[in-house]
Amino acid sequence: MRKNLVIAIDGYSSCGKSTLAKALAKKLGFIYVDSGAMYRAVTLYFLRNHVDISNDEKVTNALQDIELNFHSRDYESHITLNGEEVSDEIRLMPVSENVSEVSAHKIVRHEMVKQQQRMGKSKNIVMDGRDIGTTVFPDAPLKFFMTADPKIRAERRFKELESKGNNEITLEEVFENLAHRDYADTTRKESPLIRAEDAIILDNTDLTQKEQLDFAMEKVEPLLPQ
Ligand code: DC
Repeated sequence: MRKNLVIAIDGYSSCGKSTLAKALAKKLGFIYVDSGAMYRAVTLYFLRNHVDISNDEKVTNALQDIELNFHSRDYESHITLNGEEVSDEIRLMPVSENVSEVSAHKIVRHEMVKQQQRMGKSKNIVMDGRDIGTTVFPDAPLKFFMTADPKIRAERRFKELESKGNNEITLEEVFENLAHRDYADTTRKESPLIRAEDAIILDNTDLTQKEQLDFAMEKVEPLLPQ
């Protein structure tokens, strides 16, 4: 029996997983782990170092040269790649356009899952991603599966990019990138995005962030030590 509590949040790209995960972690005093940031940081390393992902040996060797660490400040998750802060760079389009292919790679997934399981071994955590409730922590006592209208998701991501000064990309391009990633995430061979049977569906198309947090807290409260 686990002594620590793991909350798994899975779902489509840009449907508010990290916003809810951060809010929950903050409210509960848990550690927040953004598993997507790990795949993004690996993708950035592969792009910078021209790693040929069709060559398993090169992928395995490259993974040995990568050290990822999370630093939590105000429940914002900051990730470092071999000591360099890359939290902003991993959100830019070159990474977004290549991350599906990298995250579908068996060897990459195997390594990331191993590291994620280690993080959830003894600490209370909220982890968001695509396979957290199915593969990383199939025994998590609380799982959410988040979804939202694709147009709303594209608008949210577009505004987020714009607010960070990325004005070169259009709303249509963001929509297409999301559609492409949804397709790739749900149809890949290695741990495709599917809802765990025991995951609670949370469609937040018409919900405020507070309403989502209240909904999630209602499910968490019975699991907290009295
Ligand atoms: O959550 P995100 O959009 O930052 O994730 C980036 C990519 O990583 C996404 O296209 C799917 C992949 N991913 C994954 O395959 N498994 C996870 N647990 C998290 C993310």
